[in-house]
Amino acid sequence: MGSEAVHDFNGKTVLITGAASGIGLGISRAFAQRGASVVATDINAEGLERQRGDYGQDALVQEMDAGSEDSILRVAALLKARSMNVDVLVNNAGLARLEALDALTEAAMDLQWKVLLRGPMLCVKYLSPLMVSQANASVINIASIAATIQARRHAVYCACKAGITKFTQDAVKEMPALRFNTIQPGFIDTPILEAYATGSELEAVKNDFASRTPVGRMGRVEDIADACLFLASDSATFINGATLKVDGGVTVANSLEFL
Ligand code: NAI
Repeated sequence: MGSEAVHDFNGKTVLITGAASGIGLGISRAFAQRGASVVATDINAEGLERQRGDYGQDALVQEMDAGSEDSILRVAALLKARSMNVDVLVNNAGLARLEALDALTEAAMDLQWKVLLRGPMLCVKYLSPLMVSQANASVINIASIAATIQARRHAVYCACKAGITKFTQDAVKEMPALRFNTIQPGFIDTPILEAYATGSELEAVKNDFASRTPVGRMGRVEDIADACLFLASDSATFINGATLKVDGGVTVANSLEFL
């Protein structure tokens, strides 16, 4: 069987958070191109509108704050009212805030953990009732290699990414009707990097990321989308509770060396 046939999502509904930009947009496009009905959600309504053509003809494009219980509940109620089930939930929405430990603010901490950790948990809570009746339904949580590597001024972000990786594992035992897997992307070229630098400085950051990655380039959103397609597909029905690094080898290549 060719990969096109394996990755056929006709008749499946895939809900993606943070679908207006970067990795979430890439994941949305990939599923839409393979026949899925995409539920594209993001806090950025304008961004969603701009990308509407990428989500496929029968997409549902819906503003949703993935860090807000009310907002998630509203979307769950909307899907239920339309008798829609969900086959794949991709918890992808995210943001980065750089803060040194001695300059941490409660506001920045809350912003990050609401979106990166609490939000995915609430999405599982409120969307799983729409998933459990579906064959091979699964949740994919987009964490980060930040869950395991050292990253200065990233302590809150890193803790959230480690937390969501662990939550994914715990959910496996508690909700056996669904599969749960984590993807930990490496350095992926998306607008999130503008939190670190702009202009020529940003180019230097990207060059540095590429040079430290053994495959010799930064990741593309398609690299993460391909991993999602596989984990959601009928080729992955025995993959449950896994953490998949999609990082071009950067994590292992930069770990402690003995010799
Ligand atoms: P991005 O900035 O291009 O896209 C993030 C999307 O999330 C945006 O559309 C934004 O509007 C949305 N978003 C932010 N807060 C939200 C909220 N409260 N509710 C709903 N949507 C919200 O960033 P990127 O790179 O595509 O990031 C996607 C995910 O991948 C994030 O979880 C990020 O932490 C993770 N990641 C990214 C890496 C990279 O190098 N780009 C590396 C590892 C992980």
